[in-house]
Formats: sequence, structure tokens, C-alpha cells
Amino acid sequence: MDKAQAQEKIESLKALLNQYAHEYYVLDHPSVPDSEYDQKLEELKKIENQYPELITNDSPTQRIGGEPLEGFRKIQHSIPMLSLGNAFNEQDLRDFARRASQGTNKDLAFVCELKIDGLAITLTYENGKFVRGATRGDGTTGEDITSNLRTIKSIPLSIQETRKIEVRGEAYMPHKSFLALNKQREENREELFANPRNAAAGSLRQLDPRIAASRNLDVFLYGIGEWEADTVPTHSERLTQLKKLGFRTNPEWKKCNSIEEVLEYVEYWTKERPNLPYEIDGIVIKIDDLQTQEELGFTVKSPRWAIAYKFPAEEVVTKLKDIELSVGRTGVVTPTAILEPVKVAGTTVQRASLHNEDLIRAKDIRIGDMVVIKKAGDIIPEVVRSLTEQRSGSEEPFHMPEECPACGSELVRLEEEVALRCINPNCPAQLQEGLIHFVSRNAMNIEGLGEKVINQLFSEGLIHTIADIYRLERDELLKLERMGEKSVDNLLSAIESSRENSLERLLFGLGIRFIGAKAAKTLATEFETMDKLQKATYEELIAIDEIGDKMADSVVQYFAEDKVTDLIKELKELQLNMEYKGPKRATVAVDSNPFAGKTVVLTGKMEKMSRPEAKEKIESLGGKVTGSVSKKTDIVIAGEDAGSKYDKAVELGITIWNEEEFIKMLEG
Ligand code: IVH
Repeated sequence: MDKAQAQEKIESLKALLNQYAHEYYVLDHPSVPDSEYDQKLEELKKIENQYPELITNDSPTQRIGGEPLEGFRKIQHSIPMLSLGNAFNEQDLRDFARRASQGTNKDLAFVCELKIDGLAITLTYENGKFVRGATRGDGTTGEDITSNLRTIKSIPLSIQETRKIEVRGEAYMPHKSFLALNKQREENREELFANPRNAAAGSLRQLDPRIAASRNLDVFLYGIGEWEADTVPTHSERLTQLKKLGFRTNPEWKKCNSIEEVLEYVEYWTKERPNLPYEIDGIVIKIDDLQTQEELGFTVKSPRWAIAYKFPAEEVVTKLKDIELSVGRTGVVTPTAILEPVKVAGTTVQRASLHNEDLIRAKDIRIGDMVVIKKAGDIIPEVVRSLTEQRSGSEEPFHMPEECPACGSELVRLEEEVALRCINPNCPAQLQEGLIHFVSRNAMNIEGLGEKVINQLFSEGLIHTIADIYRLERDELLKLERMGEKSVDNLLSAIESSRENSLERLLFGLGIRFIGAKAAKTLATEFETMDKLQKATYEELIAIDEIGDKMADSVVQYFAEDKVTDLIKELKELQLNMEYKGPKRATVAVDSNPFAGKTVVLTGKMEKMSRPEAKEKIESLGGKVTGSVSKKTDIVIAGEDAGSKYDKAVELGITIWNEEEFIKMLEG
């Protein structure tokens, strides 16, 4: 295929893929199977690889761009992004309607929309291309989060409208993504997000767009900021128009001709809210007629033509029947409230973590109490308070035991911790939790070996330590309940192939304190083999960028234990791979070439080399390529039409090379 043919093919593939993506992500109505999309995307990638100079920013292959940013640029909003006044009950809503109609003397129509619990964003398109996306910030100035927003597949990278247009809406994390994310974080021993809104905001505040891309965010657009062609007379028509322009709008909006209808809508969604696949925290009511909106205008903080009805957090009362204790992998003993089953925000709740004894005491929670339950962030059940006035006198205060409920050894409170721990390394509860962690997705990822099977194998006495997993035999597995030939064979082959896992999976699976999946990867890339890591000193560990004091300490302590040395020896004998298999870290001496150890920024167009090629060359020589110019930048390579990055480099006095000089340096 020559270049002209490639160009033509690329254009037609892009158009087709954009159409498929629109159908899938915006309209929720795909016309082709996923495999068709994937196949066309692969085809596009192949041609783009062959002709990298034909890659454009709006290609669906370019959603995740370049290197992590060093910070977010500030964006001044051309029209301020205001917030809404609140209504908490029927009266507040009637007052809003009355004020609005007094101001205009017209019969008013309203548009009711769901108030999506995410964060407000604005998207700017110029010449039909998505050029900028920002957060609301303080309403006047937001942050440039373009590279993160580009990863959201329902945001079109190009639209048919060529005049400059700014659209506004809400970015959010669907429940499904939120639950998956927190599950993964739990496995990695990372702090959990309290609710989908925090998770969405946290994801969009990441400097590395690959993280945002992995979080499965979505958007609903509901407004237009700046647009010279803005002529529709009503908000309802504007919503239709946004949809026509290719933007994802929420289909649940409704035009209401009276405040009674508004109240019906509010009542309906108060009940239906738990069945939505995303979080809403209220209803937004807007005057439909845009002329009237303009007449009503704004107060200092918010428009007079709209209001947000806020749902109360649902609270229910139930009986706390008992307090159970569970022992985690690290020995922490956690009290859990066992509740009379009760429905809260859509699901039945029968357990809620009480975290620790101090908290139980502070809330004066007793066994047998009637307690108020709510879902924090409408997801995680929480005991809010006990209803002390309803006590009969038979309620019993709770005391943490002095001994581990699983193994009977004495519990200890480590320095600066509220939690009580069992420190018996042979505690069966901890061993089981440790085994569950070892086989989990981000660790050894042994499919078919979930929590249930582990518990079954453990209680049958077939496994005790992680090494035992690799000694399981077909015959003994076949004797287990609910284990057919096929599942046994699948399980054995999953165990078999896990022996080949790269070092970081094993390291994470071992469950070394403070070593999550990310730190395990860092250790594996730095040390490459288990042998070297076992010998690593505190100084060597702490010298690594992402390894902190606590982590370094914990690794040294861990490998100093005889029991660990024996375990690793055993795993080696069982033929588990002990080496890192991923891409190698550059090991070029710092002064061996002009790029070694240097931070380089590429800007502008180059004639002889594509960006990915240049990046690869620099990295192979031990340099690091980043996306924006700062004081930390050592060299800026400026191709043709280099813009603001070039100016910044001049301002900061950074070494600048043109393409010719760059190539000379590469060759020299
Ligand atoms: S309209 C002038 N519509 O709620 C403000 N806002 O305090 C126009 N929100 O910051 C906002 N869903 O982040 C509007 N359907 C919706 C919304 C919505 C969520 C958020 C938005 C805004 C806040 C209002």
C-alpha cells in the first residue's frame, strides 16, 4: 500500500470506527459486534504503524496520549461555570417556581434532569476537533484535564460542527466501574474510594492518562457554553441538539408543564434511583424557555432559572443482633455488625464493618441495640448511631477479646495503631486470607481458585501454605465436592501456567507488608531476580524512587526470616519462575551519551522521524521523554511549528536542539 492509499484507508477506517464508537458509547446501541470494531481498530493500528506520519490526534488509536504530565494547566472559563441553589423539600420547589413565574408573568414549563453525582466538566471543540477539556474548579478557573478526558470513549474526538463550541456536563464513574475499582484496590491494599464521585474526581486528577483510561469513566452533557450558532429557543431543544452533535446526553430528562409534574418526577426518581447504573444525588429543575432564563438571570452564586433538589441520605433503623470478628491476612481483627436484614438504598444490608473498638465505644453501640444504618456514599453500609432511648436494658456492651478468635493466641496493639492484631504466623484465618490473596487477580491470578475453593482445600487439609498449591494432585482434587474432571483439569492447568508468572506477581502474592502491586513491580524491575532482591539492603531499597522508608524496612525484615528463606527455596524447587520478564529498565551509564539520564521533551513536527520513533531512540539511550517543559527538563527537541513548549524552554533557558542537531546527537 503506498502512502496515498494508506491515507485514504486511514480516513475511511477512522470514520467507520467513529461511527461504531458513537453507536456503542453514546447511543448505547451498537450495530456491529465488538469483534468487528476490534478488527477494524487493529487494521488501523497496522497502517498507522507503517505510516506514523499519517497519525492524527483524533484517531481512535490516540485516545491515550504520550507521557504523564507534570501538572495541570489552569484554564480560564470564558463563561463562568456556576453552581445551583438547593431545594430540600416540596415547599422549596414550590417557592422556586413561584419566584420564577413572578419574575416573568408567564406560564412556565420546566425541564427536569437527573443530578449526576460526578464532577462538572467543559469540553471545547475547534474546527470540529476536541481541543480542550477542563474541570469546573472554582467556577472561574479550572484545570486542563484534556488528556484524561480524551480517554473517555463517549467523548467524541471530532464532531461535524466546525465553529468553536464549548459543551458542558458531568463526568462520572458508573457503579460497575466503581465496584471493580474498589475491589482491585482492596486486593492491592490501597485505600478505597468512599464513593463514585471521589473515584471519578481522583481518576481525572491523575497526571498519567493511562490511569484515567483504566477507570472506565463516562459523561453526560447537558449544556452549551460558548457557541456562535446557539439559536434554539428552549433547553429541551438544546438537549436534542447536543445529541445530534454527537454528544452523550442523559435520556431520562422530562419536560414538565407544571410544578405538580415536577414533583411527580422528583417522587418517581426518589424511588427509582437505586435502579440506575450510576449515582445521582438529586434532580435539577430548569426553566425550559431560554429567553425566560435570560430574563431571570443570576444571583451572585447561581442562576435564578434552575435549582437542584437534593435527596436526603436514606437512613433506616434495624436491630444489631451481634458483633462478629474476622481476622484479615495481616492479622488485623475487625468487628463487624450483624444486622437484622434491612433494605437501604436499593440493596439488603445484613453486615456493616464497625472498624475497631474505639469507634464502637465512641458511638456507644451495644449488642441488641436498635441502630440507624445508612450507606456512606450510598454504597458502603455504615452504622450511624444507636437509638439509646429504645434500650430495654438487656443490651450488652461489646469488648474486644484478648485472644484471636481463630487461633487463640494473644492479640496485640501495635504502636500507633487502633487495630488489634493476631501476630501468630500460623494463625489459620491469616493463612487462608494469605492464600486467597496469593491466587488473586493482581497476584498469581490463578483462575478457578477463588475464595470458596481455597477455603474448601484448606479445611480438607489439602493446602496449608502457598507451596502446597503447587503440590495439589488430580486424584485428591477429584474427591472434593462440586469438582468435576473438567474443572479439576482447568484448575491444574491454571496452577501450572502460574509457575511462569513474572517475578512481580509472585512478590505481590507473598503479601509483604506495605508492598502493593505497584511496589512489587518496581522491585521486580529494579532487582530482576528473587536472589538479588533477597540480598537487597535497606540503603539499596530506599535509593529507589518509589520505595519509601516503611516499604524498605518491611522488605528487609521479611527476607530476614528463616521461614521466608525456606518458603522461597521450596517454591524454587517447585519450579516457580523467580525472574522479572517485563521490559528491561535502561541501564545506560549516565555520562555515556548526551541522552543518558536526561529528561527530554519533543515538540513540533519532525521531517525524518516520527515522535514514537524519536521517543524510542531516546529511551533506548537511557533518556526519559516527558510531555511538558518544566525546570526538570534537560533538553527540548523542537521540530517545525513548535509552539508554547518552545517558548517555555527559551524562558527557562533549557537546551534546545532542532531536528538536525538531534539526529547528529543520536548518531554521534
Ligand atoms: S446544570 C449553572 N444539570 O450539579 C449551573 N448540573 O450545583 C448549571 N450537575 O456544578 C448546572 N447533573 O456539576 C446541571 N443535569 C445537571 C447536572 C448538574 C449534575 C452538577 C454540576 C453542577 C452542580 C450544580
